[in-house]
Amino acid sequence: MAVAIGNGDQASAIIRTLGLTKIYPGADFKAVDGLDLSVEHGEVFGLLGPNGAGKTTTAGMLTTRVVPTSGSAYVGAVDVIAHPALAKQMIGVVSQQNTLDRQLTVWENLYFHGRLFGIGAADSRLRADALLEQFQLSKWGKASVFALSGGMAQRLMVARAIFHRPAVLFLDEPTAGLDPQSRLALWEILGELGRAGQTIMLLTHYMEEADRLCNQLAILDHGKILALGTPAALKRSLGADTIVTVKASGDGELLAAALRNGVDRVTRTRVVDGGVELSVKGAERIVPRVVDVAEAAGFELVDLAVAEPTLENVFINLTGKELRE
Ligand SMILES: Nc1ncnc2c1ncn2[C@@H]1O[C@H](COP(=O)(O)OP(=O)(O)O)[C@@H](O)[C@H]1O
Ligand SMILES: [Mg+2]
Repeated sequence: MAVAIGNGDQASAIIRTLGLTKIYPGADFKAVDGLDLSVEHGEVFGLLGPNGAGKTTTAGMLTTRVVPTSGSAYVGAVDVIAHPALAKQMIGVVSQQNTLDRQLTVWENLYFHGRLFGIGAADSRLRADALLEQFQLSKWGKASVFALSGGMAQRLMVARAIFHRPAVLFLDEPTAGLDPQSRLALWEILGELGRAGQTIMLLTHYMEEADRLCNQLAILDHGKILALGTPAALKRSLGADTIVTVKASGDGELLAAALRNGVDRVTRTRVVDGGVELSVKGAERIVPRVVDVAEAAGFELVDLAVAEPTLENVFINLTGKELRE
């Protein structure tokens, strides 16, 4: 079967990579290892993985900041490596660092971005006003960017990144370091952008963020995709519908063994700090069963929590380690 690559024939894919690989000079490992990705128009596509997984390097190659060691990358029909200037016109980037221009006011950061992208003065003025309004920054227009809180600065960076109506918006850990309230406010804004049809590639190590915002998710570790799907499908792939965390005195391994033997339909046990985490399929009357089995085995229960599986469980299942630091 002939697959058209690079001529725009693949109707809906807006990002495609083939064997995309990066080895940094002097490094003896692949920061990104043969990545094959396809992002469709209108998707909010997440790259979820721990620090060092290769998320920023992947986005760096797609946004022309990092030169790949091998492989290819396309944004729409544009070969990113061969035509970086063209590719840049099609993308908006919010990087991990604050890249606002400190010499300029809040409004000017938007306005001059428009001018830089070839948008006329009158249009740039209107769009800057409209975006300040949309991102609830209007009253800060004349202020220095130094006056902005972390959350406001991040909103301004998103506003600037979508100013020229990019085909794809790249967001690298957009809520890292924000307080919970600012994080929620930014999630609202990003959710709205996604619902309005903006294609987004979101890099994050926060599973809640990925779960909440993304409709397609690649789980990345050591530069490789370990799993790909909707958040719901990834969680279903665990084969368990309930996670029971049992905190108890005594030896975790022994408790895990007792629960594995005594409780039906346990798909997995994992010793955690001060207890055991149990994955279960079919959770009817799970609490009394767990209590009975643990107590019969001589354990004194301290706490018991029942929850639905999360992307954290998916990551642990795939790698044996936790996503969060
Ligand atoms: N400029 C660089 N030079 C050398 N190594 C780098 C550079 N940037 C990242 N790395 C390494 O590449 C790997 C992937 O990093 P990165 O893409 O930043 O991951 P993530 O964004 O998922 O945290 C890490 O091991 C990191 O230390
Ligand atoms: Mg990163």
